[in-house]
Amino acid sequence: MSVPGEIVLHVGPARAAWWQRRLSELLPGTPVRLWDAVPDPAAVTAAVVWKHPPGGLRRFPALRVIVSIGAGVDHVLADPDLPPGVPLLRITGEDLTQRMTEYVVWQVLALHRRGWELAAARAAREWRQIVTPVAGRRGVGIMGLGRLGGAAARALAGLGFRVHGWARTPRDIPGVTCHAGAGELDAFLAAAEILVCLLPLTPATEGILNLDLFARLPRGAALVNAARGGHLVEEDLIPALDQGLLCRAVLDVARIEPLPTDHPFWADPRIDITPHVASLIDPDTGARLIAENLRRFFAGEKLSDLIDPARGY
Ligand code: NAP
Ligand code: GLV
Repeated sequence: MSVPGEIVLHVGPARAAWWQRRLSELLPGTPVRLWDAVPDPAAVTAAVVWKHPPGGLRRFPALRVIVSIGAGVDHVLADPDLPPGVPLLRITGEDLTQRMTEYVVWQVLALHRRGWELAAARAAREWRQIVTPVAGRRGVGIMGLGRLGGAAARALAGLGFRVHGWARTPRDIPGVTCHAGAGELDAFLAAAEILVCLLPLTPATEGILNLDLFARLPRGAALVNAARGGHLVEEDLIPALDQGLLCRAVLDVARIEPLPTDHPFWADPRIDITPHVASLIDPDTGARLIAENLRRFFAGEKLSDLIDPARGY
């Protein structure tokens, strides 16, 4: 399988060579160039990117498609100087969904069973028994019922949790009480003792996790943000914990990544931090999905991972 022209790749240095090798193996005959080593920008027809420098895609006059290395495309759409009219694809797939489901189930179970209290007791050599309600008496709210949120909601419902979900448009997921739109947000929040954010970052969802929203949750709720740092108004989190609106937060993402070492979140024991690993795509799987999507794109076949630029996801 090959695609016409050349591919330019922009990804962090840790795995750039791995991505380049896997894409080259899967698309023999199609040169795959690293961002800073493109001999002929006019030969580039496809850009495969994670957080490329704004304006950088304008270098390629023959660009026909942009592919996000990831499910989220906010990092591409944040570029105010994107070449106009070039279609944007994203990565989805079973591995990405499975990894996110594992992460959400792990964090929700740990919060549900108050794992942090058990860890503190163990550190203090205390044999402290904690009685927690069974899953059927715990309300979990999933914001975003797409590929990732939908799968996480199903898995949690399968474990017996009372799962509520919130999306932009009405959804129907067995075992999940689905709410849609701004008009049903309050009913959704009122049921969410553990709130999980799996929304895409768009102008409509930026800053949605804020003090006002936390005040509409059951008092002492827990937060898991596995979507994007931009969803959280960071200045509101510690006040929400101090006021008892939240009891705990788990953050996989931050506005600035890596989270700066002097950020107050690191010093707060009520905040668990993971380094954007909830569902990190590996180049072996990701390159296979991208190669197949590029093949379909250049063959003019139907694509399920095409972004609607008006919706922003
Ligand atoms: P998706 O399939 O596009 O689903 C998005 C969901 O959010 C849909 O249910 C959509 O509603 C809903 N939504 C969008 N805008 C909304 C709004 N204004 N109000 C209410 N609901 C809204 O996305 P996905 O593949 O599940 O991924 C979600 C996000 O997860 C990505 O965008 C990315 O930022 C993040 N992510 C994080 C990691 C990580 O490792 N931490 C890994 C992968 C992805 P409709 O159903 O009505 O369209
Ligand atoms: C990771 O954050 C992704 O968007 O896939």
